[in-house]
Order: sequence, then structure tokens, then C-alpha cells
Amino acid sequence: MVELRVVTVADVPELTELLVLSREFLAPYEPRREDSYYDRAFQLKLVTAKLADHEQGSEVPFVIVDNGKIVGQLVIDRIEFGPFRSCDIGYWVAERSCGKGIATEAVSQALDYVRDELGLTRVTAATLPDNIPSIKVLENNGFETIGLARSFMEIAGERRDHVLFEFVHSTTQS
Ligand SMILES: CC(C)(COP(=O)(O)OP(=O)(O)OC[C@H]1O[C@@H](n2cnc3c(N)ncnc32)[C@H](O)[C@@H]1OP(=O)(O)O)[C@@H](O)C(=O)NCCC(=O)NCCS
Repeated sequence: MVELRVVTVADVPELTELLVLSREFLAPYEPRREDSYYDRAFQLKLVTAKLADHEQGSEVPFVIVDNGKIVGQLVIDRIEFGPFRSCDIGYWVAERSCGKGIATEAVSQALDYVRDELGLTRVTAATLPDNIPSIKVLENNGFETIGLARSFMEIAGERRDHVLFEFVHSTTQS
């Protein structure tokens, strides 16, 4: 039973524990993190800031829950209303929970949320070119490749190219 729900401050201890456990697994796919990132106090600040952004409508910070346990995170951010009606999506799932279709299901639920709750049309995502599991998660959900963005962002201390993907809902008003 995969469920997406907005993170709460009560999730911080469980989330921090999972981040510590996942540190090595996630390192090749993320910006370099300071040791302090893995402190509960830092995560509390981060979650509080994300909830403030959520309140303002600029992001939706979800935890991915499987059978009652947090197994990852999914964020909808860069939310633009007005003529763009677009957003970006990012996600991770802890190594021990991978390979069960959890990210594919979480992204599917996020696409429904984007259309039904936010009224947005276009969703973008970016992955490293060799991140086959992530590319499959996007393709499983009908994302299509836009192209290669050179030197897109810092990952593990180096500027890395990323493949950009887009998904367009056909059922929202133009
Ligand atoms: C990418 C990630 C979210 C996938 O999570 P997941 O819950 O295992 O994903 P799913 O089970 O829904 O699907 C994974 C797909 O990749 C495939 N896959 C997994 N490992 C693979 C490998 N080494 N080579 C080829 N395919 C692989 C699976 O077979 C599955 O494809 P399928 O649905 O066609 O069978 C998870 O691996 C992760 O968090 N990785 C580190 C962080 C990251 O990459 N985040 C995304 C940044 S863009």
C-alpha cells in the first residue's frame, strides 16, 4: 500500500533515521551534503521551511509511505501558476524498498495530485543519463525526453549533465 502524504514535523525522527541509513546509497545522485544535514535538528529546520513553502503554494513536500513506514520522499516544486501551469518533480526511495514499484506508484499518484489538486498541466523531471531506474520510473508514467541539459546541476561535487523529461496532462483546461 503506497501512499503519498505531506510531511509533518512529527515525521522528522523517522525521516532522519532513513536519511542516515540511505546516505551512501543516495550520494551519487544528490548534491554533496554536509554532515549536519543528517542531524535531526537540521531536518526539523528543513521540514519547517518546506512546510512554509507549501503554505505559500510554491512546493508540496511529500513522504512516500509503504505499509505505514516512510520509505522515501517526493517533492513537487518550481510550481508556476498563470500561463505556465507547470511544476517539477523529484523523488528517492530507500535501497531496501527499491525494486517493488514504489517510485513508479508514487510518481503516478503525484501526477494525479498535480492535475486534480493543483490544476497544473506540465510536469518536468531531470535525471543523470546513467540513472536507468529513475528513467524507467519516468517512462513507466508516460514522461517523454526533452533533451540533454549540459552541466545542469552539482551532483556529488561535480557539475553533471542531466536528461530532461516532461509529462503533459491532456485532461486539464488550456
Ligand atoms: C530511482 C529510484 C527512485 C527507483 O525507485 P524504485 O521504487 O526501485 O522504482 P520502481 O521499483 O518503481 O522502478 C524501478 C525500475 O528500474 C528498473 N531497475 C532497477 N534497477 C535497475 C538496473 N540496475 N538496471 C536496469 N533497470 C533497473 C526496475 O526493473 C524498474 O523498471 P520496470 O518498472 O520497467 O521493471 C530509486 O532507485 C532511488 O531512489 N535511487 C536513488 C535516488 C535517485 O535516483 N532519485 C531520482 C533522481 S532523478
